[in-house]
Amino acid sequence: MGNLSVIGLQWGDEGKGKVVDFLSGGFDAVARFNGGSNAGHTVVLSGRKYTFHLVPSGVLKGKELLIGAGVVLDPEVLAEELRLLPSSARRRMMVDGRCTLVSPLEKKFDAVLEGMRGSSAIGTTMRGIGPAYAMRALRLSPRVSDLIDGFEFRNLERFYKKVGVSSEALKGWAASTVRLLKGLTGDVASRVETICNGGGSVLFEGSQGTLLDLLHGSYPYVTSSHTIASYVSSALGIPPSLAGDPLGVAKCYTTRVGGGPFPTELKGGVGDLVRKVGNEFGSTTGRPRRVGWLDLVALRYAVKLNGVKKVAITKLDVLSKVKELKVCTAYKDDGTETTSFQKSLPHLGDVRPVYESLGPLYGAEFRGPLPRKAKDFIGFLERELNVQVVLASHGDERSSTTQLGS
Ligand code: IMP
Ligand code: MG
Repeated sequence: MGNLSVIGLQWGDEGKGKVVDFLSGGFDAVARFNGGSNAGHTVVLSGRKYTFHLVPSGVLKGKELLIGAGVVLDPEVLAEELRLLPSSARRRMMVDGRCTLVSPLEKKFDAVLEGMRGSSAIGTTMRGIGPAYAMRALRLSPRVSDLIDGFEFRNLERFYKKVGVSSEALKGWAASTVRLLKGLTGDVASRVETICNGGGSVLFEGSQGTLLDLLHGSYPYVTSSHTIASYVSSALGIPPSLAGDPLGVAKCYTTRVGGGPFPTELKGGVGDLVRKVGNEFGSTTGRPRRVGWLDLVALRYAVKLNGVKKVAITKLDVLSKVKELKVCTAYKDDGTETTSFQKSLPHLGDVRPVYESLGPLYGAEFRGPLPRKAKDFIGFLERELNVQVVLASHGDERSSTTQLGS
């Protein structure tokens, strides 16, 4: 089997964790390449819910676990996640020495910056992600390997003091980080190449979604890393040919956490119902997610940007509880109808969605083979997006998944 990159096509929370868990059986390793502990990847197995922020979602299938250079790593979160997992998880894990660290400084900074933004706050996860990538770009903060080699914090002390992190706290943090990471650190890029040269394969697990990409998403209401398929290779330090084909993951409606424009947002009514049935609350922050109809204008953009030909559709069971089903097929932008997300992106908050009502999924039962109503809906999406839907997810459990292609 070749490598595969699992990429979110919306504003994150598409169900990538479940898809990665489901597919990882066919791979030797699962590698994270972007983001950090802002991610919340949920896997439900035999009624037990696991949420992973840094540990790759292949962990429950006993796979090798790789954290690539593009990730910003909060050692406190990683330590907590490993503490809750069997010790074998640690033995299967490798963290790239080039990962930028998230220290208490970046987390405090996140809160300070959000406070400064006032009513135009991004609504970050407060995990220090933006400040960590900024510190990397400024070439100020230590990478994992720098800390292990004895990083000199003296130049940074003024920064730390400014946001109220004491030198003692910092030293304590650095010492426990070295203890945690010393045995875990390696060269993930070389490890991926070794696996592939030996005939094995790697699944790359994306975090967040295309519309949160720093450059190509709904800037400034985005995350601070890249979330799209073309980032897989540069983030990991592997040739593009090793990133494999992208598999796009899309929820059959849309959600968004935090601020920013959201053309198909539903306030009250159906939105509340979907939030409740779909349990749409942030798995990292617990915040209620904003909910809206599926936005095909945005989704076509994401499909194109990622070069996606195959898609996994998730949460079909949730729409089976909704009587009336709509999807957005175009925007009304300054009086004219458009299907170009790119043109509307700079003023996305001003467009009005144009909806098509579909035959409802209402009452569809997902106990046996996929019901006719779901197949029709999937067929509609395949035609509209010019993709093949290879996986349909219709419940939290790993078993509530139907493979339609490979
Ligand atoms: P940050 O990544 O914490 O800086 O947050 C920036 C924006 O991305 C905020 O709107 C967050 O809610 C959103 N975000 C970050 N990570 C995720 C995620 O894993 N799922 C959904 N939204 C996310
Ligand atoms: Mg999530």
